[in-house]
Amino acid sequence: MQKVHAAITAVGGYVPEYVLTNAELETMMDTTDEWIQSRTGIKERRILKGEGKGSSDMAVHAVNNLLEKKGLSPKDIEMVICATTTPDMQFPATANVICDKVGMTNAWGYDVNAACSGFIYALTIGSQFIETGRHKRVIVVGVDKMSSILNYEDRKTSIIFGDGAGCVLLEPNTDGYGLIDSILRTDGSGRVFLHQKAGGSVKPATIETVMNKEHFVYQEGQSVFKFAVKNMADVAAEIMERNNLTADNVNWLVPHQANKRIITATADRMNLPAEKVMVNIERFGNTTNGTLPLCLWEWENKLHKGDNLILAAFGGGFTWGSTYIRWAY
Ligand code: UT7
Repeated sequence: MQKVHAAITAVGGYVPEYVLTNAELETMMDTTDEWIQSRTGIKERRILKGEGKGSSDMAVHAVNNLLEKKGLSPKDIEMVICATTTPDMQFPATANVICDKVGMTNAWGYDVNAACSGFIYALTIGSQFIETGRHKRVIVVGVDKMSSILNYEDRKTSIIFGDGAGCVLLEPNTDGYGLIDSILRTDGSGRVFLHQKAGGSVKPATIETVMNKEHFVYQEGQSVFKFAVKNMADVAAEIMERNNLTADNVNWLVPHQANKRIITATADRMNLPAEKVMVNIERFGNTTNGTLPLCLWEWENKLHKGDNLILAAFGGGFTWGSTYIRWAY
């Protein structure tokens, strides 16, 4: 019997309307458009405005976009996995909230927290439910409202992030298309370089933690950069090698959009020319779990059945990984 692969059969996406430009950041902190563009490749990012709006609200737009394009009813979906670092609240899971708001009443699901690698982790998890035959339609969401945990007085960190959501539909495929391989890694000792200091069980929120700005992203950028450059490139090269792929038969690199320089280093390691690399960091910045599905969403019309895609990500944890997908449509 032909092996069942989990194939991506539809993509949805959403970015909020508000555009936060480098010029506006110049008015908020001691920075320049020139510095941000040359060090990160970012020109602008989107920010979700409006009281009471959270990650689930962006995810709902993305999921509805996907269902509409695919002509599916919310009730057709059996499972939703939501990769996010900025859930609506500590509990319940944002996946549950998305199911409720979209009306996916036949679905169950949960959140995955692997920082910027969350979408690759969630994609791999979702694929298992398809490959085993347990489910026929699984939606994997990657979403973050990074603006909710950024200190806009911290010029080293806040300038790279933005808000956004993307999602994919996974369905079974027996013709050899879909998720072929994935490599996932973690090294928890890297947590010292990138984390949120308070608000968890170790250091619950108090007036002091708020006053000390301990609920924002803490990042030692240079250290993270060094690990990211090495590990994202290594893992992308490793997945190519073990699947006998070369620069000639890889059609697309879909890289996490943290810093243009990290993307370029990964592409160089794979010997891929720039025209095979999806890059939208200049418009969206680093949307954490949103970066990879937002790339697929924007490039969907350029993809062809049988294209070989390598997804690669690196993020807090540390977590990193790569996925090889043979595009199904
Ligand atoms: O997605 C999750 C994983 N995260 C990442 O992959 C992020 C990886 N790290 C990075 O992308 C980079 O480290 C950053 C973009 C965050 C920072 O860039 P950098 O080139 O590593 O800058 P730096 O922090 O080493 O700072 C270099 C200089 C410093 O000045 P001095 O001490 O040399 O005088 C900073 O104070 O640049 C200064 N600087 C800035 N200047 C203008 C730092 N941020 C800014 C800024 N505007 N926004």
